[in-house]
Amino acid sequence: MAGTITFTMIKPDAFSDGNSGSIIKMIEEAGFQLKAMKLTRLSDRKASQFYAVHKERPFFNDLVKYMSSGPIVAIVLEKDNAVEDFRKLIGATNPAEAAEGTIRKLFAKSIEANAIHGSDSDENAKIESSFFFSNLEIFHID
Ligand code: CMP
Repeated sequence: MAGTITFTMIKPDAFSDGNSGSIIKMIEEAGFQLKAMKLTRLSDRKASQFYAVHKERPFFNDLVKYMSSGPIVAIVLEKDNAVEDFRKLIGATNPAEAAEGTIRKLFAKSIEANAIHGSDSDENAKIESSFFFSNLEIFHID
């Protein structure tokens, strides 16, 4: 059965352009519940750790530099079929390929400055949520 949790980050370009509120509104209107949310900034080291799966990719250094260039908003979200439904809502990684009405189609500038991140599996949703939040902060139980 598909999981009910996914993780997202509103990336530095979308945050600095003042699009966080519009993006969160779209997320809530799509039926996702906010479970935990934090406005923070990634250091180079933290951004490298978060994107460690991409460390052999040619874009890794630029990605780390960009993701640590300014504040981000980290959010844990809950909904049935969370990972798949959220990836549909945000659209393709490359905004040139993103469907009409998706968050990336509306707010992304390029494949790097693509406004928003979404977990690609239930397993990564847990890992990425734990990167920013404790179980108490996510599930609100001690
Ligand atoms: P995200 O879903 O956060 O996961 C990895 C990120 O790497 C991706 O979004 C893009 O913003 C970024 N990226 C930069 N260049 C590329 C590329 N050529 N292919 C895929 N992802 C890229």
